[in-house]
Amino acid sequence: SGVERLGEMIAGARVIVPFTGAGISTECGIPDFRSPGGIWTRNRPIPFDEFVASQEARDESWRRRFAMEEVFAAAKPGRGHRALASLYRAGKVPAVITQNIDNLHQASGFAGEHVIELHGNTTYARCIGCGQAYPLDWVRHRFDGDGFAPNCTGCDEPVKTATISFGQIMPDDEMRRATALSQACDLFIAIGSSLVVWPAAGFPMMAKNAGARLVIINREPTEQDDIADLVIHDDIGEALGPFVAN
Ligand code: OAD
Ligand code: ZN
Repeated sequence: SGVERLGEMIAGARVIVPFTGAGISTECGIPDFRSPGGIWTRNRPIPFDEFVASQEARDESWRRRFAMEEVFAAAKPGRGHRALASLYRAGKVPAVITQNIDNLHQASGFAGEHVIELHGNTTYARCIGCGQAYPLDWVRHRFDGDGFAPNCTGCDEPVKTATISFGQIMPDDEMRRATALSQACDLFIAIGSSLVVWPAAGFPMMAKNAGARLVIINREPTEQDDIADLVIHDDIGEALGPFVAN
């Protein structure tokens, strides 16, 4: 089976780099973006330039974020996260590259510096001007107080979740580290991503071109199944559950 084959590839690999998307967190109660019921089937994305230009867009963005707060706060790592954390502890996985913003790789046991967050993190906020970090509670308190998404107390620029929106520049250091890891691994496993959002979706092919074997685990076909050495069209919990060490 695919899972047996994956087991052989994992056993034979020296450096494994997992690359994750929203599909790894759906069993934790967090919706993905493009499946039926996904975030982008319900809401249109708010591009970065709109967030910058419009108080109304900022208010809407924060209303959406607070509407999700119970879901994010209650989410615990799933079988996929735990399997990757097991391989990390075993020394096979140096770091995980993720498009996710939910902090669940850290919660599963990865040290913060070993989670490369291409699209940032939604569990705290940052000023888009000076970069000052703010706890979400601070934003919530201000928002509830006067009904407006707040600006930075230092430089008066808008405060946003510490995530990357469409049209926002990608984080330099994370891009550099993800590039180096993709080129240094001998097994690259893309997990739970439709692989349609670039530049993130370029890492599987980058790894493949640098000589790694490529595995894709996703319930649905992806854009890049045809370049993979192994494709597992199954539930992530089922496919990675056998690799959770207890
Ligand atoms: P998508 O929603 O595009 O893709 C998630 C994939 O996971 C889908 O193909 C699902 O079929 C699959 N999936 C969901 N649950 C699964 C499960 N339990 N087992 C197996 N497969 C499952 O999410 P991403 O690819 O992560 O960026 O989206 C990429 C980026 O688009 C996000 O980081 C976000 C979004 O816009 C920004 O907003 C910048
Ligand atoms: Zn500021």
